[in-house]
Amino acid sequence: MLVLGIETSCDETGVALYHTERGLLAHALHSQVAMHAEYGGVVPELASRDHIRRVLPLTRQTLQQAGCTLDDIGAIAYTEGPGLAGALLVGASIAAALGFALKVPVIGIHHLEGHLLAPLLEPNPPAFPFVALLVSGGHSQLMKVSGIGAYETLGETLDDAAGEAFDKTAKLLGLGYPGGPALSMRAEQGVPGRFKLPRPMINSGDLNFSFSGLKTAVLTLARQQTLDDQTVNDIARAFQDAIVEVLTVKSLAALGQSGLDRLVVAGGVGANRQLREKLSALSARRGFEVYYPKLEFCTDNGAMIAFAGAMRIKLTPAKGWKFNVRPRWDL
Ligand code: KG4
Ligand code: ZN
Repeated sequence: MLVLGIETSCDETGVALYHTERGLLAHALHSQVAMHAEYGGVVPELASRDHIRRVLPLTRQTLQQAGCTLDDIGAIAYTEGPGLAGALLVGASIAAALGFALKVPVIGIHHLEGHLLAPLLEPNPPAFPFVALLVSGGHSQLMKVSGIGAYETLGETLDDAAGEAFDKTAKLLGLGYPGGPALSMRAEQGVPGRFKLPRPMINSGDLNFSFSGLKTAVLTLARQQTLDDQTVNDIARAFQDAIVEVLTVKSLAALGQSGLDRLVVAGGVGANRQLREKLSALSARRGFEVYYPKLEFCTDNGAMIAFAGAMRIKLTPAKGWKFNVRPRWDL
């Protein structure tokens, strides 16, 4: 069966076609980053309007790339939540309208389930069960994943998400929006050890995180320094060292506590090179396997929604063309 996936939860319009036997056939993405950059963050109304402009042209482009037509589509998956209500409504209503027109089932997908399953799109996917470190702009959690739909939260952030901490820290260092990739590029040119920042909750004995204090520590440090280019690089490095250490220590603890030896890293912060390098080095030394999605499938995309839809539809066949959005929704 050919599943069309539509992602419109925030500032990327993602469309993809996943075939249950042939795999991912095509995908297309439009990022709204340039449009929101001048406002220093995502403007929800502009996001919704841009999704309206993009979804159908991207769908046409994806069908063309895959050599398919609308009539080949057997089901449609869309992001039901969490996310911006107006942005979600665009994907949901277009999915339902297309489903009604084509008389195919439509299924709403949890955005985080999409992120969680994205590493399964790779050629050597992890077998269940595994531990997932899910680190995005809105969420940071460690999960035990026993199968499709069988998710247990082992720990989560008590305040800011890891991506949010990257974004807010980048903003206060004057690195603009979106901050994560910019801050990580500056950190790569930073001198390790010039500044030392706290590792929040590293010894808390549980699998929870807290990142808002780290951002405040950066603010205090930045106020004490003359912010020349190298100093910004060195502060960025100290911040990234701290966050990467906390994420790796807690991921290892989650593997230890659950007795599992497969770790999946998902979500936008999973694109961070230092985090990937550190986890890969540790996996070789400590004897666990680590799996990542392709860089382009770490951040928001349609492929993960099409894939999650294909997996879900096998378990719970969708009926009708009613649609729903859930701006706030726990996995
Ligand atoms: O998963 P995602 O695209 O959207 C959400 O569902 O939130 O994640 C976006 C987040 C942003 O906070 C962004 O700054 C962060 O992922 N991010 C990074 C990197 N690339 C994206 N953070 C650190 N290093 C990166 N290379
Ligand atoms: Zn996301």
